Amino acid sequence: MTNPSLLILAGDGIGPEVMAEVRKIIDWYGTKRGVAFDVSEDLVGGCAYDKHGTPLHDDTMAKAQEVDAVLLGAVGGPKYDNLDFSIKPERGLLRLRKEMDLYANLRPAQCFDALADFSSLKKDVVAGLDIMIVRELTSGVYFGEPRGIFKEGNERVGINTQRYTESEIERVARSAFELARKRSNKLCSMEKANVMESGVLWREVVQRIGDTEYPDVELSHMYADAGAMQLTRWPKQFDVIVTDNLFGDLLSDLAAMLTGSLGMLPSASLGAPMANGRPKALYEPVHGSAPDIAGQGKANPIACILSFAMALRYSFDMGAEADRVEAAVAKVLADGLRTADLMGPEGGSPITTGQMGDAIVAALDASL
Ligand code: IPM
Ligand code: MG
Repeated sequence: MTNPSLLILAGDGIGPEVMAEVRKIIDWYGTKRGVAFDVSEDLVGGCAYDKHGTPLHDDTMAKAQEVDAVLLGAVGGPKYDNLDFSIKPERGLLRLRKEMDLYANLRPAQCFDALADFSSLKKDVVAGLDIMIVRELTSGVYFGEPRGIFKEGNERVGINTQRYTESEIERVARSAFELARKRSNKLCSMEKANVMESGVLWREVVQRIGDTEYPDVELSHMYADAGAMQLTRWPKQFDVIVTDNLFGDLLSDLAAMLTGSLGMLPSASLGAPMANGRPKALYEPVHGSAPDIAGQGKANPIACILSFAMALRYSFDMGAEADRVEAAVAKVLADGLRTADLMGPEGGSPITTGQMGDAIVAALDASL
């Protein structure tokens, strides 16, 4: 049997630093658990642009299509702010999502007990929170045509198009219903059916899939603005949320802050099954490249490490090992270890990115 293959695209800013900690976990699996991964590395984002003049080289795209899973760090930085839209670092990530057809983006928001005090919301609102946002990732206003900045009379007009086909809604709805079945059988779909036709269609299609294929799952609908309000008011009313690309982008950042820090949240972007039965998959932290703290050992590697845990669960059928990594993270947090992003206003002494990775490896050792 061949080893499972991973392509690491660490990217820009803090991407390489947090990915270095994931490498420690991957190595730990090789030496301590006899699970060897074939790991290759390549460039994405600004670093790819610096070398190749494009944020994602065709060879890298081809490699991503071949491996069992892609792990991505982060892309972007102020250095690239003035680049043309078509070659901005973010386009590299969007191309991966689109060409790998990773339509279901799973963004869990889970509040670790040790951090319940750290959220900007009251402790009883967030303690024990465990929700999952399923964001559609390959369509909607991110990709709809026409798009661009055009001349209209003597002024310019910026245009983007929100567009969803029935089949695009159906497939992400099914992913969300399947997840709901594995959790607490509850799904809330969010759109703006009160103002957008794409939202009307979204609601209708999700309801039909629910009625015909998942009658056992309790389905509700909410306008996305009300959803944002309810997420801050009483987030524990939700379990799985399914929503479109743009609303999912916003709502997942909001949900992230419920848990205390954006530095904690992983994500999985999944597509259709490949010939080997595994889904096409890319795993990445929800946070960005944080150029302001890059290279200073301040970044929190937990989101990226938890993204690897999601790879164990969703790509490699190693759910128990994913649990092990998550428990190791919970353990170091319970022990009081904190990176700078997890320091309250009263301060304290944060540990470095590398120390956090080492502590998680030590907790993994202790779990054997
Ligand atoms: C995210 C990010 C991306 C997005 C950017 C970097 C293109 O905000 O993954 O949430 O908007 O999807
Ligand atoms: Mg975002």
